[in-house]
Amino acid sequence: MSLLDPHQPPPSAAPGPAQSHEFERELDLDAAARTTPSPATPEQQRVAGGALLTADAIVAGYFPGVNILNGASIHAAEGELVGIIGPNGAGKSTLLKALFGLVRISAGSVTLRDQDITNLRADLLVQRGVGFVPQSNNVFPSLTIRENLEMGAYQNPRAFPERFARVADLFPTLAARARQRAGSLSGGERQMVAMGRALMMDPSILLLDEPSAGLAPNLQDEVFVRVRQINATGVTVVIVEQNARRCLQIVDRGYVLDQGRNAYTGTGAQLANDPKVIELYLGTLATA
Ligand SMILES: Nc1ncnc2c1ncn2[C@@H]1O[C@H](COP(=O)(O)OP(=O)(O)O)[C@@H](O)[C@H]1O
Ligand SMILES: [Mg+2]
Repeated sequence: MSLLDPHQPPPSAAPGPAQSHEFERELDLDAAARTTPSPATPEQQRVAGGALLTADAIVAGYFPGVNILNGASIHAAEGELVGIIGPNGAGKSTLLKALFGLVRISAGSVTLRDQDITNLRADLLVQRGVGFVPQSNNVFPSLTIRENLEMGAYQNPRAFPERFARVADLFPTLAARARQRAGSLSGGERQMVAMGRALMMDPSILLLDEPSAGLAPNLQDEVFVRVRQINATGVTVVIVEQNARRCLQIVDRGYVLDQGRNAYTGTGAQLANDPKVIELYLGTLATA
């Protein structure tokens, strides 16, 4: 599963084949509505009652008494594509790690389909259908693509052929090069392997931490297209992104996280068109 750390430095990335997927611009520029002020209100939390995943007023950090998350709340409805943006150090990765049982939550709760999963161990979360792709060191470089995917299915090896076929549908290049060592792939291809590996457990919700980071623009586009395709197969997705503008173009809803708290929330289009969000978070964050 996705937690195991290969403990090997990634070899230098080989240039990948030219990928020229057109990025679908789906931003509704006419959206006039404004974002909702945050922190999440009790009403928003009630709306979240039917959510697949709800994180409510999360407080967490790495050392006792030093909180990185100061009451952050998010939810994702079944089938939704939800984005989290915000400045460096805002706590976005910490939030995903806290949701996945890797950073201890000291207050607040996480529920999955009305079941409390707060501070549940990562392997148990995987069994319950939560997948996580960390930002870096997310493939085993010395293993082949196929072996990486086998690791993804380690909790249910008999399902491998069927799951492999599904991942091959989404990522045909990976299937065609299944015997190639992951370490010889480009950064973009490695992100596909990492996402493919997380999909091998057939998650109902996938947590993605900055899948486009460090990639050339055309490969970033491919990552966003793939994330939408994964979501279109019915997988609920929570994606953290440094490429804030692109992220807001593809998500159903988004959150701006700042200093471990919700700053703004709304649809992707609402956030992308909100003058305050643009001024505070999109002016310098986005490169595209
Ligand atoms: N493993 C860690 N140990 C201690 N502090 C950490 C660790 N990871 C992140 N932090 C701190 O937590 C804060 C939020 O980091 P992070 O969640 O990575 O932010 P973001 O992903 O929004 O850039 C930062 O101040 C960072 O230094
Ligand atoms: Mg981060």
